[in-house]
Amino acid sequence: MKISVIKGVGHYVPERVVTNHDLEKMMDTSDEWIVERTGIHERRFFDPETDTVANMSAKACKMAAERAGIAISDVDFIVLATITPDYFFPGSGVLLQRELGLEGIGALDVRNACSGFIYGVSVADQFIKTGMYKTILVVGAEIQSSAMEMTDRGRNVSVIFGDGAGAVVMQASDEEDKGVLSTHLHADGNFAEELYVKDPGSSRKERLTKDMLDGTSIRAYMNGNLVFKHAVVRFTEVIKEALAANGKEKEDIDLLITHQANLRISNYLQEKLALEPEKVYNNIMRYGNTTAASIPIAMSEAWQENKLKEGDLLCLAAFGSGFTWASTLIRW
Ligand code: UT7
Repeated sequence: MKISVIKGVGHYVPERVVTNHDLEKMMDTSDEWIVERTGIHERRFFDPETDTVANMSAKACKMAAERAGIAISDVDFIVLATITPDYFFPGSGVLLQRELGLEGIGALDVRNACSGFIYGVSVADQFIKTGMYKTILVVGAEIQSSAMEMTDRGRNVSVIFGDGAGAVVMQASDEEDKGVLSTHLHADGNFAEELYVKDPGSSRKERLTKDMLDGTSIRAYMNGNLVFKHAVVRFTEVIKEALAANGKEKEDIDLLITHQANLRISNYLQEKLALEPEKVYNNIMRYGNTTAASIPIAMSEAWQENKLKEGDLLCLAAFGSGFTWASTLIRW
């Protein structure tokens, strides 16, 4: 049976840097509060004239393909994870396919928020193992800034999120002890309303009303304390699940990349798993929480910085809206 290897990884972040001090001018917040509670110093905001989820994704994909040494035309399937698609429908997967000039190949959209990228890797892994596809682009991309309310009312959410895109090329291989070793996907819909955007929802009498536009239901709601408490438990569980499934110990991990939700969560996991600090990669300081994009952006930067080398055991883990959580172990 074929296995799937990650042949290349790339990313794109918009040029506009928004610091905590910039946010202080828009709402009642402070650099001190944001750094202490989240670890974030700055994030990127898209340029409405030039950046879209689809074209940021395309830039990340082109970098991943170049690093993989493949032609974009070799790609036979696309999986795009985003909760901020260009349109209500169709999903941005088809727009990415158009951007890349890959007319005719299938494009799947994944809406599993912060866990979306790992869900996407899992789907691609199954397609490759069954022989259905050989070269798949798995992408996470978000434009969160246009949905944020840059006022005191929105400050508990708007200071956290940022924009960007990351992508990997996954390819079929006959190698052994290499590539995606396993993936682990979970969800608990009982907590769906603890981190969500309610409107414009399909089960409302009218999709969009003036009341909605004036109110908060079109904005992200997050019960931050509750999400935090569940995140630290589920992250720990799902990392241990991946290790156990492969007969590995936490000491075997060469690099842990978690969804960049909060530096305190990442630091907690590093201590709980007793990993050396250099074995946990973080870039939330520079980009904030970019939801589905955070893991592939971090993978791409870790690779660039030579922190992800051939033969390394990479653990990816995510937790977020749904709740959903997921992990994978990858032999690089
Ligand atoms: O990516 C999906 C997964 N997401 C996560 O895992 C996020 C998990 N949650 C968190 O990271 C944290 O809960 C937050 C960073 C969102 C918030 O940190 P916190 O330590 O839980 O703060 P809090 O919500 O308990 O708020 C503490 C105080 C409140 O004031 P009072 O009631 O103590 O007077 C808030 O009103 O901080 C206030 N506050 C702010 N102050 C300055 C809330 N937002 C801000 C802000 N600037 N931006």
